[in-house]
Order: sequence, then structure tokens, then C-alpha cells
Amino acid sequence: MTGLQHFGWFLARGFGPQGWGYPSLDWDYDWTRPDIYQEAARTLEQAGFDLVIIEDAPSLGSAETIDLRVRHAFGGPKHDPLLLAPYMFQATRHLGVVPTVNPAAYLPYTAARQFSSLQHLSGHRLGLNVVTDTGSARHFSAEPQLGHDAAYDRAEEWLDGIRSLWRSWEDGALVADRSTGVYADGSRLRAVRHRGEHFAFDGPLNAIPFDDGEPAIVSPGGSGRGLGFAGANSDVQLALAPLDEQSVRGYRARIHDAAVAAGRSAQDIKILFAIQPVITASAEEADRIVAASADPDDAVLVQIARKQSSDLETDLTALDLDRPLDPSIFGTHVSRGSIQRLIGDRGEGAPLRAHLTALARAGRFTDRTGFVGTAEEFADLIEELGDWGNDGVLLWGDFHPVTLHRTLDELVPVLRRRGILRREYADGGLQANLRAF
Ligand SMILES: Cc1cc2nc3c(=O)[nH]c(=O)nc-3n(C[C@H](O)[C@H](O)[C@H](O)COP(=O)(O)O)c2cc1C
Repeated sequence: MTGLQHFGWFLARGFGPQGWGYPSLDWDYDWTRPDIYQEAARTLEQAGFDLVIIEDAPSLGSAETIDLRVRHAFGGPKHDPLLLAPYMFQATRHLGVVPTVNPAAYLPYTAARQFSSLQHLSGHRLGLNVVTDTGSARHFSAEPQLGHDAAYDRAEEWLDGIRSLWRSWEDGALVADRSTGVYADGSRLRAVRHRGEHFAFDGPLNAIPFDDGEPAIVSPGGSGRGLGFAGANSDVQLALAPLDEQSVRGYRARIHDAAVAAGRSAQDIKILFAIQPVITASAEEADRIVAASADPDDAVLVQIARKQSSDLETDLTALDLDRPLDPSIFGTHVSRGSIQRLIGDRGEGAPLRAHLTALARAGRFTDRTGFVGTAEEFADLIEELGDWGNDGVLLWGDFHPVTLHRTLDELVPVLRRRGILRREYADGGLQANLRAF
């Protein structure tokens, strides 16, 4: 029997233009102001979500390809999600807010102090989505760019350093006794002295300890090194994997093994599988959407090409749709994995049109070919995931009110009726909600 699962929302366009490029979403919102994010945060809390993760990329990419990223606002501009978080906390009482942070961008002492401040201000509802993108390193220092695994090593040193600062106040250090007038006992503050490969700093931290746990650590990396990082450090892992039983169980086992290898317990990590559902009013509507997507027109393909051009920093919109895609157009900055995801099993001789059409094609929940279907069909999928031991899912989308309401309006009552979605929150913030079941 499936029980409660955890629900998160991945704000896939970060703190940037919401709904841009979709004329039907032109509601005249100002993405630079807090209102749209606060409205969405209230909606997600009303819906019983545990957390919202704010995507981020601090860089606009290389000088030659900046235009590809900003022209249709797929890759920027993006404002700083850490500074957006307090506005979302202000609008809610239970929702966890998880800005994306890159260890390259913050010195550990600054980070420990800022995150501590936000954890206290929010009533222990802060999480941190720790990412290791190396391409943006040049904005933060003149040091040579790190390799993939070395960036994870740095992230681990950074997090260890932050935790040692958070823990530099021993039990009993905070006194706050009005009768004696003593606020803190300085003899119980530990002098942290860190001299590592990437960072050097001294403590203790000038911020008081937490009552209800440290900020939750969230991680999205899916490589072997990424899973190892999650096992050793994370409270939540964001998973991208096919949603068949073998893949789901296999992914979960890899994370759990990594946790146990790091001396933790498998129950210490919640694994949320990312899904971008299209919820329809009827099965017929879902069938129509899937059928229409089988043969997309050129306008749809161009829109997909624009997004791919931004993600891959390579202009696909200038190419002939009916000629084979030559992989040599991708610079060395584009990973083989990303090119492979575009080309799939169609091979290099296939025309660009075939690759973009494959991305345009939608599938149904019912036969597990995709994520289009009714709320009841979606709930069936979630129940099946639950039967395989799954902890929860991460719904993926922007924060435009139309996106949120199209996705949630029918879904929430169905999930509640089936006992999959929480009606009440725990006391004690994000960590308490994650551990409640
Ligand atoms: C669900 C999900 C969300 C992600 N969010 C971000 C993000 O906001 N910013 C970012 O720079 N990378 C993001 N990533 C990319 C990862 O941080 C990581 O760089 C990528 O998965 C490559 O690491 P890996 O080789 O360990 O998989 C995300 C990945 C996934 C699966």
C-alpha cells in the first residue's frame, strides 16, 4: 500500500523571466519583483509541497555564445536565488525554499553565516541545492577551471568547512539567561582552523547554533562521483531516470549504497524523481495532445531548437532542418553526454528535424511513454512508484500562475483523496517535514 510521498517543485527557469516565449502566458508579470514567486510559494504550501528548488546558473556562458543564451531568455538573465528566498519565506509558514548554490561562488565563512541567518529567519526552512558547474568558475576567481570530479572534491571540502563552522558553538555555548545577564559562554566556542586544498579560514562562526537542524542539503548530480557526494552529504537527491521499476530501484540502491559507504543510513536521504507532467481534463484530451505532437510543425521545432541552442551553446536555429546534424559543430565545451542526449539512437546521419521531432513528441502516463494524462492517471504512476519504495517526486516547471494551476488544480484533490499528498506539516521546518514519513 502506498502511503504519503514528498512533493517538491523545481523552478526550472530560476529567478528569471517566467513564461517568456509562450504568448499564451503573457500576463504582464514583472519577474524581477517578488510578487509572482510569493504567489507561487503560497500555492505550493496550500498544495502540501515540502519544498521548492530554485534553479540557477550564475554565468551567461562564453562570450561567443552569450546571444544564444539571452536572446530567448532560456539561459539568462537570472537574478540571485539566495536573495529571493527571504521573500518566499515571508509569504509562507511551512514551505522549504532551496536556492541553488555553487561552492565556487561563496567563501565558506560567508556562506556559513548567510545560510545560518536564513535558516534562523525562516524558522528552519532553508535548503541548499549544491551544484558543481565548473564553466562559471572564471567569474569568481582567476584560478584554472577544475575538472568534473575535482569540483565535487571542492564542494565536499566547502560543505565540511561550513558544517564545522555551524558546529563551532558547542552545547551550552548559547546561555541567554536573563537572570545573570549572560548571553553566551565564550569558552564553549570552538576555534575552527581550516587549511585545505581549496579553502583556508578560521572560526568560530559569528552566528548562533540551530534548534531544529541544519539547512537541508540537496544535490542533483547523477554521475558516479555525484551519487557518492549525495550518499555522503545530502538530505535530498534529485533524480533524473526512466521511471520503470528496474531503473527506479537501481537508482535508489546506488544512492543508498553510497550513504551506507559514508557511514550514514539509507533512510537519511529522500530521493525525488523529476517529472514534468501535462495534466489534462480527460483521457481523450491527453490522446489528442500526444497524437498532435507526433508530427510537430516547424514553429514548434524552432522553439525547441532555441532552447537546445541555449543549453548546448551552439546555434541550431541557423541549420537546415533537413540536413544531417554534423556533431563537429559542437565546440569542445559541450559534453559528449549532452550531444548524445540530442542525437539519441537515431545516429549522426539523421536530419536535425528527426532529433528535434523526437524531443517534441509527448507520451502518455498510461503506457509509460511520457507524462501526459489525467490527474487520476498521474496518481496511478505515483502509487506505483511508491510501491517500489519511492520517497517522492519533483514536479518541474516555471512559476507562471498558469503553469502552476494547470498542473495542480485537479491533481491536488486526487492525490489527497488517495492519501499520497500531505494535508498537514510537521513542526520544525524542512528537515522535520522530510523526516515525518
Ligand atoms: C533535477 C536536476 C536539477 C539540476 N539543477 C541544476 C541547477 O540549478 N544548476 C546547475 O548548475 N546544475 C543543475 N543540475 C546539474 C547538476 O548540478 C550537475 O552539474 C549535472 O547533473 C552534472 O553532474 P553529474 O556529472 O554528477 O551528473 C541539475 C541536474 C538535475 C538532474
